[in-house]
Amino acid sequence: MSESISGFSKLSKSKKIDWIVNTYFSNADEAKRILEQYWHIDEKIQQLHDEFIENTISNYYLPLGVAPNFLINGKLYTIPMAIEESSVVAAASKSAKFWLDRGGFKTKVISTTKIGQVHFMYHGNKKTLESFFSYLKPLLFKDAKPITKNMEQRGGGILDIELRDKTNDIKGYYQLHASFETLNAMGANFINSCLEQFAKTFKSEALIFDAFSEEEKDIQIVMSILSNYVPDCLVRAEVSCKVEDLNEDNTISAEEFASKFIQAVNIAEVEPYRAVTHNKGIMNGIDAVVLATGNDFRAVEAGIHAYASRNGRYSSLTHAKVEDGVFTFWMEIPLALGTVGGLTGLHPLVKLALELLYNPSAKELMQIVAVAGLAQNFAAIRSLTTTGIQKGHMKMHLMNILNQFGANDHEKAVIIDYFKTHTVSHSAVVEALKNLRANK
Ligand code: MEV
Repeated sequence: MSESISGFSKLSKSKKIDWIVNTYFSNADEAKRILEQYWHIDEKIQQLHDEFIENTISNYYLPLGVAPNFLINGKLYTIPMAIEESSVVAAASKSAKFWLDRGGFKTKVISTTKIGQVHFMYHGNKKTLESFFSYLKPLLFKDAKPITKNMEQRGGGILDIELRDKTNDIKGYYQLHASFETLNAMGANFINSCLEQFAKTFKSEALIFDAFSEEEKDIQIVMSILSNYVPDCLVRAEVSCKVEDLNEDNTISAEEFASKFIQAVNIAEVEPYRAVTHNKGIMNGIDAVVLATGNDFRAVEAGIHAYASRNGRYSSLTHAKVEDGVFTFWMEIPLALGTVGGLTGLHPLVKLALELLYNPSAKELMQIVAVAGLAQNFAAIRSLTTTGIQKGHMKMHLMNILNQFGANDHEKAVIIDYFKTHTVSHSAVVEALKNLRANK
């Protein structure tokens, strides 16, 4: 085992690398070479990346792909996606093309409210706390003014603050439960700053509130933090067409396809094992756009999965039906996104991705991201209920296998051609490559 190190963050980048490569790698020079190989040639851009986080030693590349032909509310988009999984961009593009000829995607932002909470402990009289809160509430707004002023000028700010009694869950546990409108900002810093100010005002006002006994004045603030659960920051995406227009594949009739598709969605609605994978496929699309546009995919993931469990059982995010001969497939998801602040104005590729999307507002980005998720799910269910997933997946994975075995351009061309009419599997590719090399 290696020894621990103190003061690591204070070391220069090159000293950090030296320590890492000499402590953990059998070939220190090679490890150092790989780390340095991924540095950006433009020192300024590298410095920008170095300063995003602490202890940066290199950059971690993900491919940035694009999926064109997304018709959303009558406007055409090419959607940027940062993702490593081979088949995701291809599936998104296929879905986009399919729906392009069938009216495209329709989307709507339902609500944009975000939540933050000050969690605290109070063991006194509840009525006294309530009267304190009535006195306190305007002061909370007033003291937060320096933080909220600019946001208010743009039409956002603190919407409401409630006192919530949670003593049934934990003895003495209460909350200030606040709602916010943060417009084009994801709002984490804004909300957390407001909450920490609420906590300060709360604490200091409690000390001078006459109706409190000395014990009641001793309120314990546990923490002040936004919630990534945003069930009131909701967007809907939908596609629909006549059942007969679903016909594209001559191995299955349009009616049978619609019926199997709906069955697959119904299964994900009732069966958590399937729902998790079903929703994972949706997140393939969502995360890729969230990441490309510099948003916090962990926050989005946490919020969406919590929403998928809101009725007490983890369930499908998407739904499908046929009514009066019309097939409809839709999804409502919570999404807290920003198109200002955070990485959006800093990372050159994020700026580029946003420009590609016509520099959207946060509301527009919510709709684009939801479409990417719905499209991904459509592609997955379509494959699963017809050809099976492996055909398309392995076709896309073929290049990874070829690269793993160091295939040159000629070998790649021959093998890709061969697998147009053969089933791709890891061993079949290895075999084909072996034969090709043997017959040279
Ligand atoms: C793979 O990344 C995603 C799928 O498993 C999603 C699904 O099963 O619906 C194909």
